[in-house]
Amino acid sequence: MVNQLFPLTVRGATTRHRGKTLVGPIDLDLDGQGTCVVLGPNGAGKTTLLRLLHGIARLNEGAITWACDQHAAQTSQAFVFQRPVMLRRSVLENLIYPLRIRGVSRSEARDRAERWAKRAGLGSMLDRPATFLSGGEQQKLALTRALIMDPQLVFLDEPSASLDGRATREIENILADTQKTGTRLILSTHDMGQARRLADQVIFMLGGRVHETGPAAPFFENPQTLEANAFLNGDIVE
Ligand SMILES: Nc1ncnc2c1ncn2[C@@H]1O[C@H](COP(=O)(O)OP(=O)(O)O)[C@@H](O)[C@H]1O
Ligand SMILES: [Mg+2]
Repeated sequence: MVNQLFPLTVRGATTRHRGKTLVGPIDLDLDGQGTCVVLGPNGAGKTTLLRLLHGIARLNEGAITWACDQHAAQTSQAFVFQRPVMLRRSVLENLIYPLRIRGVSRSEARDRAERWAKRAGLGSMLDRPATFLSGGEQQKLALTRALIMDPQLVFLDEPSASLDGRATREIENILADTQKTGTRLILSTHDMGQARRLADQVIFMLGGRVHETGPAAPFFENPQTLEANAFLNGDIVE
């Protein structure tokens, strides 16, 4: 896959809400391959950072620059929300819908939807109303609905926040397959095991700022800041 999105350059990016700074100023350079995991305590700004990078949080100040133009960048990215938003229709229709609005024919959309549903282990639930699925199945459906568009980059906000071990493993298996195709992932998680399993790169957020960032292995072995060290030790960091 030709990746036209990266490098991503973020300079002084800031999001405010009613005069309060939620995140920023953020400076980041994202390059290369692999998965970037956003870590940090509750309220650190992980969700807002993902939304800001994806262009769904207001950029009050600064600049976010992709290697391609804004429109191309937007259409080659997908976002999986922490709480999946399902159409009140069947599993199959939930997968067909995003393809249809991008102009894919009904029959091809149906074929692709069936193939992807099977791959995600949802093949036996095609006709079931999506809102009847379990939490884990809904998250798999949300993820599949993002991947079916063949994005170059997928944002995932706490993709397994409320899931049990088995559902988490299934989600991670899908993510691992996705990584192999060269799709970049930027995901937030509070699950340190998941972070260690998936991360090539880490962004550690604190107080709305990037507190520490770099390649995953050195970060986990030898974090450079006291706060990251405390966070990795499971201490409360504010
Ligand atoms: N829509 C919003 N309106 C007002 N404040 C918000 C909103 N979303 C997030 N915040 C605040 O922004 C900060 C960052 O939140 P968030 O990005 O959700 O952090 P995290 O995902 O790391 O828990 C927090 O102080 C939170 O209370
Ligand atoms: Mg969050």
